[in-house]
Amino acid sequence: MQPTNEMVEVFPDVAALTRATARRFADITSKAITCHNIATVALSGGSTPRSLYTLLATEPTIRDSVPWPSIHFFFGDERHVPSDHPESNFRVANETMFRHLASQSLHIHPVPTESADAFEVAAKYESELRQFFTKTGLIEAGFPRFTLVLLGMGADGHTASLFPNTDALRETRSWVTANWVEKLRTHRITMTLPVINNAVEIIVLVSGADKASTVAEILGHGANRVRYPVKMVQPRKGIKRWVLDKAAAGQLFLEPSEDQIHAHD
Ligand code: 6PG
Repeated sequence: MQPTNEMVEVFPDVAALTRATARRFADITSKAITCHNIATVALSGGSTPRSLYTLLATEPTIRDSVPWPSIHFFFGDERHVPSDHPESNFRVANETMFRHLASQSLHIHPVPTESADAFEVAAKYESELRQFFTKTGLIEAGFPRFTLVLLGMGADGHTASLFPNTDALRETRSWVTANWVEKLRTHRITMTLPVINNAVEIIVLVSGADKASTVAEILGHGANRVRYPVKMVQPRKGIKRWVLDKAAAGQLFLEPSEDQIHAHD
């Protein structure tokens, strides 16, 4: 059984998952702007959100429903590479979304990865977040309160750059940290759990059969032997929305009583 502020939505395929998430994105950001005149979004890296970013920026009915000039875009995590590097999350978001919106006045806050020292990169990004969220007054319980944090999930249950058995999982004060990931032999820049868990809404986008066993272990009824990082995403005062395609939910046997799991045709 999931916590009451956690829900699971299953869609037939990636196209349906993407369209529904794009509509949710427009809805959440528009509501935030009505309340605060501003919306703040932390984008996810990886390949899953590429189709979402493209749809948001190129499908006219969706694009025209997004209040672009009032949204501030940040990155939930970033690789320690230049912004034009193929592995850069900024580069992915720019190529799939931002560059299609040249006519819009966009507010983008990339991670300043120029410095060779990953800890300096993290400190600079944290300083930028602190300055922005202090100025806009969007801090609650000592942490920034994002309108929306978009996340993906690796087959090992990592999310953002919070990988299993890494130091960042134990961070309780910093907003951004340089996390050494042994299996990648590199530091990754990542927002921390207190920041992610302070969001109004967290959407975890997962597609593909390769993630089905991890999804089933996390959302199913078996005992969770492993403390998956994505399971440590537990919003303090917000909603956690799992958005899955059928392939990723393929091993998730839904109990009839599951009233928080919505299967969309
Ligand atoms: C990153 C992401 C990472 C990603 C997962 C899933 O920088 O890679 O933040 O957490 O969301 O690894 O990646 P895919 O969407 O490519 O499966």
